[in-house]
Amino acid sequence: MVLDSKIALITGGASGIGAGIAKRFAQEGAVVAICDIDAQTGTKTAQEINGEVHFFELNIGSEEQVRKTVEHILQQFSRIDILVNNAGITNDRLVLRMTKEDWENVININLTGTFLVTKAVIRSMIKQRYGKIVNIASVIGLIGNAGQANYAASKAGVIGFTKSVAKELAARNVTVNAIAPGFINTKMTDTIPDELKQAYLKMIPMGRFGETDDVANLALFLSSNQSSFITGQVFSLDGGMVM
Ligand SMILES: NC(=O)c1ccc[n+]([C@@H]2O[C@H](COP(=O)([O-])OP(=O)(O)OC[C@H]3O[C@@H](n4cnc5c(N)ncnc54)[C@H](O)[C@@H]3O)[C@@H](O)[C@H]2O)c1
Repeated sequence: MVLDSKIALITGGASGIGAGIAKRFAQEGAVVAICDIDAQTGTKTAQEINGEVHFFELNIGSEEQVRKTVEHILQQFSRIDILVNNAGITNDRLVLRMTKEDWENVININLTGTFLVTKAVIRSMIKQRYGKIVNIASVIGLIGNAGQANYAASKAGVIGFTKSVAKELAARNVTVNAIAPGFINTKMTDTIPDELKQAYLKMIPMGRFGETDDVANLALFLSSNQSSFITGQVFSLDGGMVM
């Protein structure tokens, strides 16, 4: 199996894309640590996946919680080989109506949370001279979207962060890449009104929304040794929406 005995930490792994990645990694032999703010769903998801999957309650916006949880995982499994920074939120509003709080909530979780978890994990990756980091960005971070200035800025930030950390860690055999999904069927996209969904579908040459498995397959490749010479890249995964 591709990830045999690798230890993988996945943030936001309780549901949606993160749960899909957790399931795929477990199928490939990884020991998976799902870290999520939603303890009820996370515990259920970990139980339902075949393989070795553990749940840890974590708000990635809290530096203290991030530090303690990563320490706990390192103590329990002695290493972390793979980090998938997937947890993310939206809080959509036109800029004219966006409060500083709306802005900060999204930046704090999507961008600062990604920074905090990465910082907590990389020391051990550097020591072991091995690591795979996959950051889940978004096509919105590449092209922007009306009503999502906070989200777009956070995801564009994740892309800049990915490239910078990739440069810092390349010589230590730690690769850092980003996936920029288009529209993927999860509870995040469930709330989009039907009319808007139809308009978005017209922008996708392949004529469908993506599935969590589509993202999980690319995350698996970027977390495996099959991608060992790839770092600092951003992969759009969007049915051809952004070319
Ligand atoms: N669904 C899409 O179309 C799409 C497109 C592009 C990018 N993305 C990105 O993919 C990632 C996953 O999104 P999804 O669609 O699966 O959404 P989702 O809402 O189904 O899952 C997000 C998960 O993150 C967790 N989470 C939220 N805040 C957290 C916090 N502070 N600490 C820890 N966990 C937290 C949630 O509990 C949830 O389990 C996000 O970063 C999102 O921005 C999604």
